[in-house]
Amino acid sequence: MIYLDNAATTFPKPESVYKAMDGCLRGFGANPGRSGHKLALEAGRSIYKTRELVCKLFNIENPMQVIFTSNATDSLNLALKGLLKPGDHVITTSMEHNSMVRPITALESLGVENTIVQCDKQGILDPSTIEAAIKTNTKLIAMTHASNVAGTIMPVEEVGKIARRKGVYLLVDGAQTAGIYEIDVQKLNIDLLALPGHKGLMGPQGTGILYIREGIDLAHMKEGGTGSHSEILQQPDITPDRYESGTPNTPGIVGLGAGIEFIIETGIDKIREHEESLTNTMLEELKKIEGIRIYGPRDAKKQAAVISINIGDEDSSEISYVLDKAFDIAVRSGLHCAPLAHRTMGTFDQGTVRFSMGYFNTKEDVYKAVDALKHICEELDGE
Ligand SMILES: Cc1ncc(COP(=O)(O)O)c(C=O)c1O
Repeated sequence: MIYLDNAATTFPKPESVYKAMDGCLRGFGANPGRSGHKLALEAGRSIYKTRELVCKLFNIENPMQVIFTSNATDSLNLALKGLLKPGDHVITTSMEHNSMVRPITALESLGVENTIVQCDKQGILDPSTIEAAIKTNTKLIAMTHASNVAGTIMPVEEVGKIARRKGVYLLVDGAQTAGIYEIDVQKLNIDLLALPGHKGLMGPQGTGILYIREGIDLAHMKEGGTGSHSEILQQPDITPDRYESGTPNTPGIVGLGAGIEFIIETGIDKIREHEESLTNTMLEELKKIEGIRIYGPRDAKKQAAVISINIGDEDSSEISYVLDKAFDIAVRSGLHCAPLAHRTMGTFDQGTVRFSMGYFNTKEDVYKAVDALKHICEELDGE
């Protein structure tokens, strides 16, 4: 089986992630931050260690500003619903995932104003269109770092400068870039960073992160036990406890820590260069096949390791079904939870077949996928 669905979740994980999770469940599977015994303290320390690793990777100063969530969707919901109030204006782009679009749409019904800035057919965003959309009540610019459909990398640095100059907060969805591209929250002026733990950060499913810049007053979404200030009936004000009620996903967070350690030890540049090289090879090979339409920038320097294609007018689900059944190649088809992106690219009716490479893929995987596509094209030609 060749796994080319890393944009959904990375697979496999580094060996150290499996070992760390097993070690946690067997070795110190106590509830952190609650009891005071040795095992509980060890569990608490292991969670704090992951907070510190997150800080190291994203140049965050204070580990207490790192909130653990269950996925990027959870982080985006907390950021958007915690920040925006009726009468506020938010600007987003036409390349967003539904995890961004749906919470914003829900907020619109509560009186939050929304402007969706149009990207071009390749998903490229002109930062000046964001600046032009800023109004007196604009509170937030909320955007992805890279499209999960076309891979298009967004000009986050330029938008960060605009946001800082105009006094508007910047929320970045790093679902397709974290662990592969450098994200320095200070350099990029990112106020809120939403991340899945289970994609490029190589942790297990059920993990996510929200970084909240110090000083931002974000409402919490739920109340409950935090192990701190147990004498009061209200949710404590301290971060991260304010946002982390209930028993945390300790084994998951430990696995996420091991994933981030793997990235730091391997080197983020090495990971990106490998993925870039796979993307480049695949793009160049695909360009040679007649009948294949490639969407997005078609340039490995301008897109994450995500390539969306179609073959003629064939149903994208049909192609991915054949890739799975006949060639043992796992990809994703359809709208990829991003209908606005497909409207932008003109692929709303057909969807796309998406190939997404990860660090553990090889050139051989790419060549096999290309051969499979050639074969499918030939078969279709002969029909
Ligand atoms: C750009 C983008 N944002 C958000 C998400 C949601 O991530 P999660 O499944 O961790 O909630 C995804 C998932 O594919 C994504 O690609």
